[in-house]
Amino acid sequence: MMQEGTVLETLHISKAFPGVQALDDVSLTLRRGEIHGLIGENGAGKSTLIKIIFGLYQPDKGEVRIDGKPVKFDSPMDSVKAGIGFIPQERNLIPGFTVGENVLLEKLNQSGVFVSYKKINAEAVQWLEAVGLDILPTVVVSELSPAQMQLVETAKALALKTKILLLDEPTASLTPHEVEFLFGVLKKLKTSGVAMLFVTHKLEEIFAICDRVTVLRDGHVAAQGEPIESMDKDRMISLMIGRKYVVTQLPPKPPRKDKPILEARDVYSDSGTQGVSLDLYPGEIAGLYGLVGAGRTEFARALIGDARITGGEVLVNGKVANVKSVADALHRYGIGYVSENRKAEGLILSHSVVTNITITVWDRIAKMLGVVRKREERAIARRSVDQLDIKTPSLDQIVMYLSGGNQQKVALAKWLTANTRILIIDEPTIGIDIKTKYALHDLIWDLAANGVAILLISSDMPEIIRLADRILVMKDHRIVGELANSREYGDMSQKIGKLLA
Ligand SMILES: Nc1ncnc2c1ncn2[C@@H]1O[C@H](COP(=O)(O)OP(=O)(O)OP(=O)(O)O)[C@@H](O)[C@H]1O
Ligand SMILES: [Mg+2]
Repeated sequence: MMQEGTVLETLHISKAFPGVQALDDVSLTLRRGEIHGLIGENGAGKSTLIKIIFGLYQPDKGEVRIDGKPVKFDSPMDSVKAGIGFIPQERNLIPGFTVGENVLLEKLNQSGVFVSYKKINAEAVQWLEAVGLDILPTVVVSELSPAQMQLVETAKALALKTKILLLDEPTASLTPHEVEFLFGVLKKLKTSGVAMLFVTHKLEEIFAICDRVTVLRDGHVAAQGEPIESMDKDRMISLMIGRKYVVTQLPPKPPRKDKPILEARDVYSDSGTQGVSLDLYPGEIAGLYGLVGAGRTEFARALIGDARITGGEVLVNGKVANVKSVADALHRYGIGYVSENRKAEGLILSHSVVTNITITVWDRIAKMLGVVRKREERAIARRSVDQLDIKTPSLDQIVMYLSGGNQQKVALAKWLTANTRILIIDEPTIGIDIKTKYALHDLIWDLAANGVAILLISSDMPEIIRLADRILVMKDHRIVGELANSREYGDMSQKIGKLLA
């Protein structure tokens, strides 16, 4: 019997990919006017389930029902018609199109040859306002920040007036303020009866807005539709990983050496940097905190030769550095940069796991004749796969077929193996499950303990407070203050808040 209020059911859904059972007998129900959390480790099957509901994949077994009737969607066109909206984990916008065109893409598709841009833009403005995005619909999407793109995705789903909304990590690249706004939007949708399936790795978010939660573990249902009141964080984590998990304390680090390895002196750049000065010492983790758009990534780009320095200077090991390109940064100066935009910039999606991880060390393992030694290469990749618990059927799997979080891990692994003396890490744990997040923290900590100088860019305040030796706060492309880290969350968040006010 279908329960009162049930809008959507997945019944006994299984789905295999070569070498992976992504879903195994997954049943779940979604009720009218509820926000249903869907959680699980990277590779647990969350996105696959959502893609099946949306008609992007066909299940091997099982069925999807809407209002009690079995449905079969051959493509997303069908599911959109049936009232399903999807905010995907991978940005799905067309970069060369304007914001307005993207928001109303489906309408453009249907309206044939005659498109009134005035109308399109006027309507797009409403949806942009609804998600709190203050940009013109005529802006081209490729100009937007990740957070803005995320909100455009949301506006797009709203424009379709869906009754079932599937959200795959919608908050991954949003600032706390934007998350709050998005949650406001979701709560309104909820009151109007929309049923939502909400994927996130941030468990606090589950408690903040979800009514019920389903946990996937290795493609199985570990808990189905449990009321949020019956859950706590520890229980969620043990359901996700199949055992109890204890977060270990990070050990104290020896004091830093006396000479900075990297110095920025009053740096201006054509990426917007406004007179930034900082010293980075071997063996330390300096946190660079700021909200999305504060100019942290733009500053990092100037350091690695991806933006032009227009004023001031950068010194590496006490000597003026003239970093010409990302490759130059790595090979000549030992500076690595883990991009926040890992999917777009950090990976060759059509290549294997092993190639992607070892690409930065080819120089080192290409001994005679420039031939990369396969065995060494595989050993390095194997170590990273184990360390970061990268879920892949083999080292030769094409990266495109890994789950979103596992792709992130591959991109990180590449830099962690790169033997850099200075490592700039931009938002390392976005989209990464909680267990791996702590594993990554340990790794970053170990690198620093081994003498690597780390500049940690993060919008995740608990993360920066856990890891950083000191915290530089950035706003409007300037450093507005530096704080010693007491590692007390309340204390630090208050101090940081003051600097940002
Ligand atoms: N198109 C595909 N081809 C081959 N394997 C795939 C494909 N899509 C997903 N997989 C595999 O199926 C499993 C489940 O992946 P899925 O993307 O559903 O995970 P997820 O729970 O969304 O993880 P994440 O938190 O990392 O996004 C993973 O092992 C993944 O590598
Ligand atoms: Mg996913």
